[in-house]
Amino acid sequence: KTLDDLTDIAGKRVLVRVDLNVPVKDGKVTDATRIERVAPTILELSNKGAKVILLAHFGRPKGQPVADQSLLQIVSAVKDVLGKPVAIAQDCIGDQARAAIDAMKDGDILLLENTRFHAGEEKNDPDFTKALAANGDIYVNDAFSAAHRAHASTEGLARLLPAYAGRTMQAELEALEKGLGNPKRPVVAIVGGAKVSTKIDLLMNLVKKVDALVIGGGMANTFLAARGTNVGKSLCEHDLADTAKQIMIEAATAGCAIILPEDGVVAREFKAGADNEVVAIDAIPADAMVLDVGPKSVEVVNAWISRAETLVWNGPLGALEIAPFDAATVAAARHAAARTKEGALISVAGGGDTVAALNHAGVADDFTYVSTAGGAFLEWMEGKPLPGVEVLQQK
Ligand code: 3PG
Repeated sequence: KTLDDLTDIAGKRVLVRVDLNVPVKDGKVTDATRIERVAPTILELSNKGAKVILLAHFGRPKGQPVADQSLLQIVSAVKDVLGKPVAIAQDCIGDQARAAIDAMKDGDILLLENTRFHAGEEKNDPDFTKALAANGDIYVNDAFSAAHRAHASTEGLARLLPAYAGRTMQAELEALEKGLGNPKRPVVAIVGGAKVSTKIDLLMNLVKKVDALVIGGGMANTFLAARGTNVGKSLCEHDLADTAKQIMIEAATAGCAIILPEDGVVAREFKAGADNEVVAIDAIPADAMVLDVGPKSVEVVNAWISRAETLVWNGPLGALEIAPFDAATVAAARHAAARTKEGALISVAGGGDTVAALNHAGVADDFTYVSTAGGAFLEWMEGKPLPGVEVLQQK
């Protein structure tokens, strides 16, 4: 059920789970994207006259109040994005929360303090969940990026109150359905990043679902080494050679093409502007490391993007943070964005550094959907059920 099913809510207390786990430096929010994403849901409910009560976590405070993980430092950014006043209560349950909620008028917005200041949140404790539920008539979950957690405010509450998906949750689920659920084929996945070890489940799941899997970043070296290529001093998890081989076998069985780099940009130092050269992938010097995939490989990746109807992307192809080793990621991202703009490609990206990579390439707005979720996006790519989504679908 979505907000379309939620009529007649003037005066109702709506508990809205949002993800305000945003980057903060020196007490200031440095990237408000997650706040911008939940603004439509908050404003829609407020404009319909609901009393909008925001529930969120911030950081990992381990079940007790910690000053530098207080939502007090986020509230002014929330006000700026919404363009409306937002009150804050210094606890998410108990007398402080109750008093603040009793003082609300129709359409008001109130942010309750970090749910993770109570141990019951992460334990999904029934008493804590009941205490949260006592403050609301309706529950709306707009925090896809926290939906992989079976916590009181992301899962438990949906069992106690009438539960609905917010607009961002709705958009996210629709985009993910297009990405891997019921995609237009051919589907190509690009997976990059440093390590295979953090993405084994994801790769195993993807090879069963996509037509081609492009492997880039440091993790490509592990696959190359497993295949017998000498990767010199490159980042490589040699102990995962058997895992990499197993993934390649699974791919062959499922009819998924594995695309590994054909050339690489190598350097002897890991630093911006380091002397570098392009070498064929079977000619990596023993004292050099691959820091980006080479131009020939980019041509191959872009040809796959041109052939694809659907693209799912997670992780950069090279050492994005140090120029010029960002070149392959930027070139492929721009090509995918151009194809998307032509209406020829559905492109869904998310997880970890991916949003930063697309922003760096200046194309995040041109993709069909860019998820702000980190862990939740990866678990979705792994094919795992997300408790916060499952409970909404069961209602
Ligand atoms: C995130 O930042 O990915 C979500 O807010 C979840 O945070 P967590 O990993 O601390 O549960």
